[in-house]
Amino acid sequence: MRRAKVVGTGMYVPERVVTNHDLEKLMETTDEWIQKRSGIKERRFAADWETPADMAKVAALRALADAGLAISDIDCIVLATLSPQHEFPGTSFFLHELLDAPEIPCFDLRAQCTGFLYSLATANSFVRSGQFDRVLVMGVEIHSMGIELTTRGRDVAVLFGDGAAGVILEASEGGAEDPGVIEVRLHAEGKHARKLWIEAPGCALKPTRVTAEMIADGRIYPKMDGKFVFKNAVTRMPEVLHETLSAASKKLEDVDLFLFHQANLRINEYVANALGIPAEKCLNNIERYGNCSAASIPLLLAEARESGLAKPGSLVAMAAFGSGFSWGCGLLRL
Ligand code: UT7
Repeated sequence: MRRAKVVGTGMYVPERVVTNHDLEKLMETTDEWIQKRSGIKERRFAADWETPADMAKVAALRALADAGLAISDIDCIVLATLSPQHEFPGTSFFLHELLDAPEIPCFDLRAQCTGFLYSLATANSFVRSGQFDRVLVMGVEIHSMGIELTTRGRDVAVLFGDGAAGVILEASEGGAEDPGVIEVRLHAEGKHARKLWIEAPGCALKPTRVTAEMIADGRIYPKMDGKFVFKNAVTRMPEVLHETLSAASKKLEDVDLFLFHQANLRINEYVANALGIPAEKCLNNIERYGNCSAASIPLLLAEARESGLAKPGSLVAMAAFGSGFSWGCGLLRL
């Protein structure tokens, strides 16, 4: 059976560390509030000169080096982001330029914090169908430029950070227990799109997409109904995890590592407790990086492989919930 297996992972986070104490200087917040509510201690912010494509390039080159491949070996690039480099074209095209890629297709995928899993599912289908042999799947975010670093925006601003990470999927022949993506289940509920969103600029805002008044009112910054999002996250993540495991005829106990989206440590602890998952099987890096949306899960995966926690043969379950609403779960054997 044709499968898509992970042959390389790579990550990059900017050098600049922004602690909760640094944020205390910009808005009315406290290190204690942030840690207690979210588990975050610090996050990274991109340098002035750094673009999303610059960050994705470093992560992509590391993934290629890890796989022992060159960009000329890649057939397609799928890049998930909610903080694009420009309105259009997608960030993937600027990454394509920086990687000096041959004339391979590339595109951005917009599914917010579930973006990496949507991209993984897409790349998996490309490989399994035979359309491509190797796909580079990236998640990258520069949130620091899109959040409101003032008291008005504090409920969202303290949660997000910048980062980039990705994986290379390669075609292989094997059975259900061999390395490869086993199952990816995806969901959405668009009726809650406005519970976590950035409204402007947008083509729904006629006639000019954005006005000086909208900017002054902060409608260009993310808005979230935090409690509602929290409640949905802790319901949907276990639900989709069960659905995915059952589709793959696996049990929770079979999973070696759980990589949950890094929106809030409390969400992940709640989900792990509810499912009876031992803490050591559930990896988190939110205390160091905050919520990096589409980059959070590949950051975890890259770190897990680098540290040796994820080994060849490990069964890894990844689950995410985010804006859209969108949610999903991916199961893979390394
Ligand atoms: O990745 C996408 C998915 N995102 C998520 O899954 C996030 C889900 N939601 C959450 O993680 C939590 O709802 C938050 C961490 C965002 C907020 O925690 P909460 O316990 O729901 O707090 P809250 O929004 O109800 O705010 C409680 C209080 C409010 O004050 P009052 O009204 O009780 O006086 C807020 O104004 O905390 C205040 N507050 C802050 N105080 C200090 C809100 N943000 C801050 C802040 N610093 N940064």
